[in-house]
Amino acid sequence: MLLENKNVVLGITGGIAAFKAAEIASQLRKRGAHVKCIMTQHATEFITPLTMREISGNPVAVSMFGDIPEFNVEHIALAQWADVFVIAPATANIIGKIAGGIADDMLSTTVMATKAPVLIAPAMNTNMYLNPIVQDNIHKLEQYGYEFITPASGHLACGTTGIGRLPEPAEIIDHIEWIVCRTNLLKGKKVIVTAGGTREPIDPVRFIGNHSSGRMGFAIAKAAAFAGAEVTLVAGTTDNLKTPVGLARRIDVGSTRDMKEVVDSYYDTCDLVIKAAAVADYRSAHPAENKIKKSDETLTLPMTKNPDILLGLGQRKKHQVLVGFAAETTHVLEYGAAKLKKKNLDMLVANDVSAEGAGFKGTTNIATFLFPDGSVEKLEKMGKDELASLIIQRAAAILAKK
Ligand code: CTP
Repeated sequence: MLLENKNVVLGITGGIAAFKAAEIASQLRKRGAHVKCIMTQHATEFITPLTMREISGNPVAVSMFGDIPEFNVEHIALAQWADVFVIAPATANIIGKIAGGIADDMLSTTVMATKAPVLIAPAMNTNMYLNPIVQDNIHKLEQYGYEFITPASGHLACGTTGIGRLPEPAEIIDHIEWIVCRTNLLKGKKVIVTAGGTREPIDPVRFIGNHSSGRMGFAIAKAAAFAGAEVTLVAGTTDNLKTPVGLARRIDVGSTRDMKEVVDSYYDTCDLVIKAAAVADYRSAHPAENKIKKSDETLTLPMTKNPDILLGLGQRKKHQVLVGFAAETTHVLEYGAAKLKKKNLDMLVANDVSAEGAGFKGTTNIATFLFPDGSVEKLEKMGKDELASLIIQRAAAILAKK
């Protein structure tokens, strides 16, 4: 888990979204982080320190002068303890105070004293958020290196609709991970990742697809972005997955030929391609212009072969590193080795998609890495996020040797 044993100070200010801080603290702990909360006096009107203490598992700091035995000079101790400092929700008031150098309570004092990265999630009425004074304060703080999450748009507690909602806790956690776990392993490198399944139309309302969820490819795109790469995610059909933070771009495609066109257009200037997509090998030879009506007992669809995207990349490979996948149900290593050679790959991730805990659906996978020198790395069952980061580490090592 990316946030395992990371120390997060969560600052909570007095807005109606303060109740969401409970969910943020809870999700952080589920991901292995240690959480300590600082609340402003106004925040305690919206959610109690007792709630935050129980959820975070730590005493909650509110007053500068209260008697909390854990810390010596408490604001300094908390400021030093933090690996990351998050303020969610952040009112216009706290943003103004930080930007103005005002330190008159526990939260504003501690944030001034910290050297940890600071992430601020503003949440307020639209007019307040768009007020040029608030916007100026945000820009000023951004220039000093404070990071902001843009508020979501939607229905606001004040009865209006517009920008100003606190983003969902999961999105805030993604940003925290992004801040804490970024590395430079692939800095300056351009990476293409394909994910999900392709759809081959039969008629205007039907298609042939597959069970790919896109999870493996999305996890790889995220891991590559966390490693500092400029990532282009080419996504087929997925289980409605959210775009990971930090990508340069996401391009959604339908058919195998659509995917090929996009991948080919980015190929020449890229350094690494990871083809996790489950690509349809065949398509309907003549998709019907109108909906096919039901008539005979059987229906025969003539199929024609799709281009093999990865094979094409392997044939015109120059400086690029190519990583392919092999989804097999039998003879995994034998078929995998044959694909590695045939497609001129630098690494192949082979998996038995019929095995329990592996394959298209679910959040885990069981993979074996194959390399052109014949070496094989057999892995245990693990989460797709963990496997993704191993794939990125191996691919980065191959790139470094080129
Ligand atoms: N692939 C591709 N274009 C295709 C088919 C596959 O780029 N038309 C890529 C996949 O993204 C994967 C690798 O090639 O990285 C292997 O895909 P897989 O479906 O396991 O194998 P195939 O080459 O299609 O062979 P087969 O279906 O006969 O096992």
